[in-house]
Amino acid sequence: MGKGYYISKHLATAAMVLAAIALVTIIALSVVYNREKSKNAAKFSKATTLPVFPTPKTSNEPWDKYRLPDTLSPQYYNVTLWPRLVKNANGMYIFTGISGVMFTCEKKTDLILIHSNKLNLTVFKGHHAKLTGLSGVTAPAIKTTWFQSETQYLVIQLEGKLKPGKDYWLYTEFTGELADDLEGFYRSEYMENGEKKIIAITQMQATYARKAFPCFDEPGMKAVFHITLIHDRGTTNGMLWTGGQTIFGPTKRMSTYLIAFVVSDFTYIDVRIWARKKAIEDRQGDYALNITQPILEFFEKYYNTSYPLSKSDQIALPDFNSGAMENWGLVAYRETALLYDPRTSANGNKQRIVTVVSHELAHMWFGNLVTVKWWNDLWLNEGFASYVEYLGADYAEPTWNMKDQTILYDLQSAFAVDSLTSSHPLSRKEEEVNTPSEISEMFNTISYSKGAAVLKMLSEFLTEPVFAKGLSNYLKQFAFGSSVHSDLWEYLQKAVDQTPGIKLPYSVHEIMNRWILQMGFPVVTIDTRTGNVSQKHFLLEPEAVVDRKSEFNYEWFVPIKWMKKGQVQDQLWLLQKSAIHKPMKVSKNEWVLANLHVSGYFRVNYDLGNWERLLSQLESNHQVIPVVNRAQILDDAFNLARASIINITLALRTTKYLLHEREYIPWEAALRNLNYFFQLFDRSEVYGAMQAYLKKQVKPLFEYFGTISSNWTTVPSGHTDQFTQIIALSLACSTGVEGCRELTRSWFKKWMQNPPNNAIHPNLRSTVYCNAIAAGGAEEWNFGWQMFQKATVAAEAVKLRSALACTKVPWLLNRYLEYTMNPEKIRKQDATSTIGYIASNIIGQPLAWDFIRANWDYFFKLYGTGSFIFSGLIRDVTYRFCTPFELSQLKRFQKDNAETGFGSGTQALQQAIEKTTAKIKWLEGNKEPVLQWFLSESA
Ligand SMILES: *[C@@H]1O[C@H](CO)[C@@H](O)[C@H](O)[C@H]1NC(C)=O
Ligand SMILES: *[C@@H]1O[C@H](CO)[C@@H](O)[C@H](O)[C@H]1NC(C)=O
Ligand SMILES: *[C@@H]1O[C@H](CO)[C@@H](O)[C@H](O)[C@H]1NC(C)=O
Ligand SMILES: *[C@@H]1O[C@H](CO)[C@@H](O)[C@H](O)[C@H]1NC(C)=O
Ligand SMILES: *[C@@H]1O[C@H](CO)[C@@H](O)[C@H](O)[C@H]1NC(C)=O
Ligand SMILES: *[C@@H]1O[C@H](CO)[C@@H](O)[C@H](O)[C@H]1NC(C)=O
Ligand SMILES: [Zn+2]
Repeated sequence: MGKGYYISKHLATAAMVLAAIALVTIIALSVVYNREKSKNAAKFSKATTLPVFPTPKTSNEPWDKYRLPDTLSPQYYNVTLWPRLVKNANGMYIFTGISGVMFTCEKKTDLILIHSNKLNLTVFKGHHAKLTGLSGVTAPAIKTTWFQSETQYLVIQLEGKLKPGKDYWLYTEFTGELADDLEGFYRSEYMENGEKKIIAITQMQATYARKAFPCFDEPGMKAVFHITLIHDRGTTNGMLWTGGQTIFGPTKRMSTYLIAFVVSDFTYIDVRIWARKKAIEDRQGDYALNITQPILEFFEKYYNTSYPLSKSDQIALPDFNSGAMENWGLVAYRETALLYDPRTSANGNKQRIVTVVSHELAHMWFGNLVTVKWWNDLWLNEGFASYVEYLGADYAEPTWNMKDQTILYDLQSAFAVDSLTSSHPLSRKEEEVNTPSEISEMFNTISYSKGAAVLKMLSEFLTEPVFAKGLSNYLKQFAFGSSVHSDLWEYLQKAVDQTPGIKLPYSVHEIMNRWILQMGFPVVTIDTRTGNVSQKHFLLEPEAVVDRKSEFNYEWFVPIKWMKKGQVQDQLWLLQKSAIHKPMKVSKNEWVLANLHVSGYFRVNYDLGNWERLLSQLESNHQVIPVVNRAQILDDAFNLARASIINITLALRTTKYLLHEREYIPWEAALRNLNYFFQLFDRSEVYGAMQAYLKKQVKPLFEYFGTISSNWTTVPSGHTDQFTQIIALSLACSTGVEGCRELTRSWFKKWMQNPPNNAIHPNLRSTVYCNAIAAGGAEEWNFGWQMFQKATVAAEAVKLRSALACTKVPWLLNRYLEYTMNPEKIRKQDATSTIGYIASNIIGQPLAWDFIRANWDYFFKLYGTGSFIFSGLIRDVTYRFCTPFELSQLKRFQKDNAETGFGSGTQALQQAIEKTTAKIKWLEGNKEPVLQWFLSESA
């Protein structure tokens, strides 16, 4: 999947998309990511369907364990599914299905465990399945069957034993609900030309294939799938079948979570990008189509392995929980991650499309062809795709500097959570990850972003050709099978051994274990007076106690690339806690810059003299320092100050050179750190002085873009310059640079006067909408709301949805919060991010916090414990917390809802408490110097 809200999921399909008949198009894919709702759990566990045996806490029966035993291995499935796209007599949307699985007995057993969730299974002669032996083998009779709800198994006990080496056929018939829960086989509704349309789609990752048909639902249990879909053809009576059937398959050997299929009347273009008819007619699929072929070509070359399937389909879905899902051969996306409309989409939307598409296509090999054996190694799958997505995107858009942006979107995001004691190692022990919600929790920033940053570091110290060679041998070895992370290390080591000239201080395995088996990362401190280089576990809260033990004592083997006064030096390795590296001892007119090109996953600190020399280099000629390092100096300094390792005034001084900075990445890094300050201080007297300082810093940037864009009538041609232009406008307006607010207000006004003609450049719309709605009242808000409801392009709808949260009017914000509980107004997939937007507004934050506390139960029931949305929700509403009162409210919230639970938000809540505690402490000693500094600098 994609990341965070835009977690791309991987779709695996063995070559199955078919444009079927008249009204109905069927697309089958092989992977699904489903999130189960617990809503119907009680109903389904009634004895009328399957008897449920409560799990005694002490029981240690096989069916109480979340992992399947190793007694059986599936070979292939024959599955036929028939979704009904109209309600049945009970007012329910359902699907019916029949499924058979051929499995081989590996070890003698009289027990069959197969995953099945929320399916009503037909009873034959008192049992919920039929078992036969194949090739003349006689199968033992079934003794009893039942449904184990906690572990989601259909349990089948046999009268006699299955024989090792023999094949058996297990057959079931079932009915399931085609619910709108975004999980398993589900339905999605949307309006087209005033008509309500219903489509049936799937999302199986991580544990939802079992909700579509009974299956051995673990990633390592690969099999071949023959899937047949029965679909209605424009019939008004769902029970009366007048349609056809479409037979897919056989697939390649693949994991259940990568299966996907879609029944819709969508249409497609070429290499096949599928979407709503209207979106395709409007050519919104063209951009994705343009980049898909080059990206596939790139990965074929990079992996030195041809594309494993005979077809490639990608589909944009109106209702989709994550950003995308890498189903094999049928990748599913949110509309905003695949559809691009040049008239209304910003270049940021375009960049998102190229990175998400690249991420998902990377999974067609890494993830789908070779799959991690169990979810504890999810980081390898997701971290890898998150790293190479930039390589693929860079190939498709060579002028965009995509590779540099990883430091913003992976490294720095990972640092933010990995510097807390509540972090966790990249790789967890297999036995630590069992339940669906534990699996769900693995889809987090650590797996995606730290995974990417650590693999990038590995690729850089091995060099890319060696990394790619080891990788391609690994893929060849494990194709259509599964692996664990040490298998990859082994193949990379072989590549190292075969390459003369590469020397590592330890094996790949030994070096990488320190980065993946212990959480966190080091801050490397360089004393240029002595050449002493030392490392220490970096924690944002200096006094925090680290409960989690590490066998490596929180020390790392650190590859350090560096430069001395503009000259690149030989890489060195820090292998101990502290060591003297003579070359790093420099004279008074030289400076050292470490972590050159930010290739390593660590922060850097220096002696004061070196900091001073770096600062004066930045102010005299910043271009001597590479652009990503300028951004990293800022980010390191601010975080070192937050951790009380350096004085905050030193960190603030890294922003002084921004007067001359015109590049996107340093500005973005600065903005993020300053934004943190804004949120910390916008309710205190520091705010005014800070505003005045920033106004001064951004003014030249604002004027620069005014000039090069002919007084804001055009946008710059450079891709990242367009991003910088947006920063210039939004920071200038928020700090009150003369002329900025007038400009945005006048643009919005013009649009309100003539709604069909929106002349605001798509890049600038988010900023302009937000500023105008913040400055306006109900009239502006209602206009924005109307435009939101009319928007036919998803990217435009998102801009409006987030801008509506910018109003300063409390009753409008409260009404907007209420809308998030009404799917007719705000789609379910968008509810929690909308609450997050509201929480980032100073007026909206307390309202959102009250709202969440009042309705926690509702959201929890709505999305289910397995859902990964809670972590983002908790992070967003608590982001601003920095007072003892807020901390006590947080703790109280944790206590009050202990019974309902926090699902995938458990960790996020812990992080929020830790961050708030740290902020309270930090403010005590730093508020005054910060105020004084801003006052003196803005004078
Ligand atoms: C499963 O389906 C395949 C392809 O349609 C067919 O060849 C095979 O005989 C089926 N297996 C069983 C046990 O029905
Ligand atoms: C499954 O059975 C339960 C209990 O009889 C019933 O309430 C539910 O509606 C059934 N579900 C489907 C999809 O038929
Ligand atoms: C897709 O590529 C074609 C041909 O190069 C080009 O004319 C068109 O503008 C591209 N479309 C988009 C949306 O980038
Ligand atoms: C790519 O794979 C082929 C065959 O598997 C092999 O002969 C060739 O050397 C590989 N190329 C590289 C650059 O590793
Ligand atoms: C940081 O530096 C400022 C001014 O240089 C000084 O006033 C302040 O006491 C220092 N803070 C700490 C914690 O050392
Ligand atoms: C730029 O545009 C604004 C508003 O559109 C106008 O008021 C201003 O005079 C223009 N400035 C210049 C230098 O043309
Ligand atoms: Zn992914």
